[in-house]
Amino acid sequence: RRGEGSRRIGRARAVSEPKPASEIDWNAIGFGLTPTSHMFVATCDLGGTWSAGEVVPFGNLSLSPAAAVLNYGQGVFEGMKAFRTKDDELLVFRPDENAARCEEGSLRMSMPPVPRDLFQQAVMKTISANADYVPPVGLGSLYLRPLLIGTGAILGLGPAPSYTFLVYCSPVASYFKGGQLTPIDLTVEETYHRAAPGGSGSTKCIGNYSPVLKVQLEAKRQGFSDVMYLDARENKYIEEVSSCNFFCVKGNTISTPALQGSILPGITRKSICEMAAARGFKVEERNVSIEEVMDADECFCTGTAVVVAPVGSITYKGKKAQFCDGKTGPVTQAMYDELTGIQQGRIPDERGWNVKV
Ligand code: COI
Repeated sequence: RRGEGSRRIGRARAVSEPKPASEIDWNAIGFGLTPTSHMFVATCDLGGTWSAGEVVPFGNLSLSPAAAVLNYGQGVFEGMKAFRTKDDELLVFRPDENAARCEEGSLRMSMPPVPRDLFQQAVMKTISANADYVPPVGLGSLYLRPLLIGTGAILGLGPAPSYTFLVYCSPVASYFKGGQLTPIDLTVEETYHRAAPGGSGSTKCIGNYSPVLKVQLEAKRQGFSDVMYLDARENKYIEEVSSCNFFCVKGNTISTPALQGSILPGITRKSICEMAAARGFKVEERNVSIEEVMDADECFCTGTAVVVAPVGSITYKGKKAQFCDGKTGPVTQAMYDELTGIQQGRIPDERGWNVKV
C-alpha cells in the first residue's frame, strides 16, 4: 500500500508527497490537492468481511492492471468536510449522512457496503491523524475523500473479488475561482446529458464525473464557470451542475430539482432545504424548468466542495439571464452564512449536525 509517494524520492519532493502543515500557505490553497501525512485503509476479501482498517502514511496504491475499478469503474466516493473552531475544536459535518449514502452507492455498484460505524470511525481517525492540516478558522476546511473501490483483479465483467476502502484528505478553500461567494456564470447544456432515468445519476460513482469534463472544458474556454444539465427525457428540466445541486428563488419560494434517480442526493442540498423551511420559505422539490429558472429572482448551487455558490448569470439558447445584478442575492447570502456558521461552530448547531472529532 505504501508506494513511492510516501517516501522522499532523490532530493526533490514528489508532487504527491505531503509537506508539513507548517509549510502550507493557507491563503493560497483553493481546491487543489495538498497531500497530508496520513490516510485510512481497510480491505474486504472474497468472503465479504471488512478488515478493521488502519491509519497509514499517505502514499500511492499498488494495483493489478486488471483491478475492477481500473477496467470497469467499480467505485464510489464521498466528499466531507472538517472544520476548526475558534476554540480549536475539530468538527465534522453530518458524517452519518455520508456513511448512509456510501452504503446505498455500494449496493448500486454491487460492492460490499462499508459498515456505517467503520466508515465513521475511519473518517474520525483520518481527521485526528491529519489534525495539523485542518486550516485555521476562516481559511477553509479539511476535505475528506472516502473512496470505496473494487481492487481485486477480474477480466470478464463481474464484481471484483476484493475491495479497498480508503479515506484520504486535503485542506481546501474556495472551489470556484474568485473565492467563496463570487457569483458564477453558468451555461445550459442542450446536447449532452449527465444522467438518464434508470441510470446511475443518483449514485456518487466515479464514472459519473469524467463524462462531464468534455462539456465543462468547452464551457470554460468560452468563459463560463460551469455547466447546467437538463433532463434526458425532455431536455427541459434542470438536473444539476457538474459538481453540485441547484436551487432557484422566486418570492418566498425556494425550488430545487426533485430526487428522481438521476441527480445526486446532496447532503448540503438536504441541509439547505431544512434550513430554508425553518426560516419560513416554501421549499419545493419538483421539476424545475429552465424557462422558470431564467425568470427567477436569484439562483445558487450547493455541494460539499462548492458550499453555497451564488449564480451571477445563466446562458440558455444564446440568452443570458442575470440575477441580482450579478451579485450575491440575499437568500443565497443567508443560506451561506447559516450553513458555514453551523459548520464552523459559530452559531448553535440545533439539529446536531456536527460531530466533534
Ligand atoms: C463534493 O462536493 O464533495 C464532490 O464530491 C464534488 C466533486 C466533483 C468535487
